[in-house]
Amino acid sequence: MDRIELHKADHLQGEFSPTPDKSISHRAIIFSSLAKGESIIRNFLKAEDPLSTLHAFRTLGVAIDDRGDDIIVRGSGIYGLTEPSNVIDCGNSGTTIRLLAGLLSGNPFFSVLTGDSSLRKRPMARVIEPLSMMGANILGRAGNRYPPVAIKGGSLQGISYSMPVASAQVKSSLILAGLYASGETEITEPVKSRDHTERMLHAFGADIQANGLRVSVRGGSELQGTDTYVPGDFSSAAFFIVAALLIKNADITITGVGINPTRTGLLDVLREMGAAIEISPIRELSGEPVADIHCSDGSDLQAIDITREKIPALIDEFPILCVAATQVSGTTTIRGAEELRVKESDRIRSMVTELRKMGADIEEFEDGLSIKGGSRLTGAAIESYGDHRIAMAMAVAGLIADGTTTIHGISSVNISSPGFFQLLRKLTS
Ligand code: S3P
Repeated sequence: MDRIELHKADHLQGEFSPTPDKSISHRAIIFSSLAKGESIIRNFLKAEDPLSTLHAFRTLGVAIDDRGDDIIVRGSGIYGLTEPSNVIDCGNSGTTIRLLAGLLSGNPFFSVLTGDSSLRKRPMARVIEPLSMMGANILGRAGNRYPPVAIKGGSLQGISYSMPVASAQVKSSLILAGLYASGETEITEPVKSRDHTERMLHAFGADIQANGLRVSVRGGSELQGTDTYVPGDFSSAAFFIVAALLIKNADITITGVGINPTRTGLLDVLREMGAAIEISPIRELSGEPVADIHCSDGSDLQAIDITREKIPALIDEFPILCVAATQVSGTTTIRGAEELRVKESDRIRSMVTELRKMGADIEEFEDGLSIKGGSRLTGAAIESYGDHRIAMAMAVAGLIADGTTTIHGISSVNISSPGFFQLLRKLTS
């Protein structure tokens, strides 16, 4: 199946759990692999990206057993990894390659990290530069800008580093290197990005402190095997939340969704636009807040301006937010979002090009876009650019458009939400 066809939906109804959180699934494999003893990961996301991380740790000598619903990891401590006999293929996953770059910089052996053609175009200087400042021997293609990345790990020194861009992948890479460094590694972000690494490392017993925009970690301490239950992925739930606000006769309940405030910027923006979204009841799972989300159609949505400080908490929700913006009253402007140009595709360009094909009125800026709302969208032939979040956002656009929308290139999309299209069909049929 290389394409998917969608038609205007006349309802969206049901109760379901979203797929497990991708970011937390990666981190559960990483920290369990570095811990001493056995860790069980429940509700692990078996999608291409986290599986790239799982396979990477098997290549690094960690015993990882896939027992259906549970993943059992037997770690040998932070110094228990062994030199891989082959290059490590990180597939399409930026989280895998950037977090591993930091971790392997502190391990005394040779390793090479690479990935697919999209990953090999993603910036690596953002981790190579600070890791080199810590004393790492790390090189990348094209003057240290892109993968493949070659590392001869060794002794590292803690540094104090101010990150030029807000990125949880960069922050986590440096925290992982900091576990191996002498002294303290202190990282300051310009805007707070997702903090799953800090929360989970704390649960595994690392000497880590987080305070506002600053995180510090002390090297040398061991991690203890800990069980993790991965909550539902807010970034998967986001497509359904927006669909429920835009499709007539919509009423959905999404259960067990992670609502870590560093991830739910889309909820804040939608509420500011006037959306009625109910969150209840809030509980905690493996150090992460989790809730059920209920939403339906009928809110009268107004455009707002979305500025730089709001971007990190909705970084992965940009494509679906653009779809919402085509339907509100007034013009929505999103600025300070240039990071979106270096994701799995250039997500600003991808959304501008594809939504325009459906009749949306959009102006593109280097760091964002503005979308005039109230458009009547018309079905079109849509390109997904091998980017799962573009394919999923445009599928929601297809459900509110007149005529037929066909999303092409599905087979080259790394679907981080397996079952997404089937679930969308089920809720609309
Ligand atoms: C991720 C962080 C974000 C996000 C990506 C997953 C993570 O990237 O876009 O999908 O798991 O740390 P940046 O931190 O580079 O913005």
